[in-house]
Amino acid sequence: MTTSTDKAITNKVKPDWAGDDFLSRFVNLLIKIKPVYSIMKYQARKILIKTAEKNGIPWRKNCQELARSGVQELYDAIADPNLTYPDYYQVPFHAYPEGNLCWKAAFEAESATLSMGLRVWKNEPGLTWQAAQKRLRSSFHQTIEPYTKKPVQDILDVGCSIGISTQELHNFYLNSQDAEVRTVGLDLSAYMLAVASKRDANKTISWVHGKAEATDFEDNSFDLVTLQFVIHELPRSATEAIFREVRRILRPDGVLAIVDNDPGSPVIQNLPPALFTLMKSTEPWSDDYYTFNVEESLQKNGFKHQSTTPSDPRHRTIVATKN
Ligand SMILES: C[S@@+](CC[C@H](N)C(=O)[O-])C[C@H]1O[C@@H](n2cnc3c(N)ncnc32)[C@H](O)[C@@H]1O
Repeated sequence: MTTSTDKAITNKVKPDWAGDDFLSRFVNLLIKIKPVYSIMKYQARKILIKTAEKNGIPWRKNCQELARSGVQELYDAIADPNLTYPDYYQVPFHAYPEGNLCWKAAFEAESATLSMGLRVWKNEPGLTWQAAQKRLRSSFHQTIEPYTKKPVQDILDVGCSIGISTQELHNFYLNSQDAEVRTVGLDLSAYMLAVASKRDANKTISWVHGKAEATDFEDNSFDLVTLQFVIHELPRSATEAIFREVRRILRPDGVLAIVDNDPGSPVIQNLPPALFTLMKSTEPWSDDYYTFNVEESLQKNGFKHQSTTPSDPRHRTIVATKN
């Protein structure tokens, strides 16, 4: 079901609340007022958890179960102690003081991801979180599928978090072709990866702790690399460095597929002030992302831009191939 907001016609390429517009600068000022920010953060968190639980996502129960599951023991086996973290990654993020580098972020990631899926179609009565998540992932898979040459044997999911995107992608290619698939999930947070590994009971995926800008993978070793809901969390300099690294590790004609917030989406442009203020305050590179010409950067960094598709009311899928 579409709403009047979904249908609103707009020619704007980005929301007024991002970039250098007056509204954007005003919001940025507001965020800097510590007491205002703290109250907002606290209230937003309460609402997020309450809404999730009302919609059948047992947020607090999920966290408690993970905390008691022994997942912490997987950390040492996954973490690369020699990895150095970029500065942009070592800042408070999503209201966690340590960003993604803590257990709390990793324990809450599943519920947060499922809630995000439900928010895409929040005006559709009766839609379950399971159906919303399926729709979210399958719109991405269907959009990229025509560009991938079968068999797709080696897949890398960059910024895999706790592995929901990775598992869905792996299953999609496993079920849509008559060949084995080797899938790798890469992330900078070993906390997230420990949870990913715990969720992957059948050990179908390889979970790698690493920096997407400089991986240890060999040249020309993947057919498909995805960045799912990652680049809106990065400064553009990091995204561009990742594009160059992805180009190195993709096979000739290999596909880079990106799904993320669509700056041109009427839903994103018309987010309520409380929501966009909160988004900007907890995702510090928002202004950079919403004003970044991703397609131009892909071409500059050795890709052929194939398509940009609004794959759901809030997100766009960008497909590029290695030149
Ligand atoms: C929003 S989450 C991705 C969600 C997941 N792909 C999905 O669709 O459910 C973004 C992830 O990117 C990871 N990340 C951010 N910068 C990274 C980098 N330079 N290299 C590897 N992972 C990174 C973060 O640790 C985080 O887990």
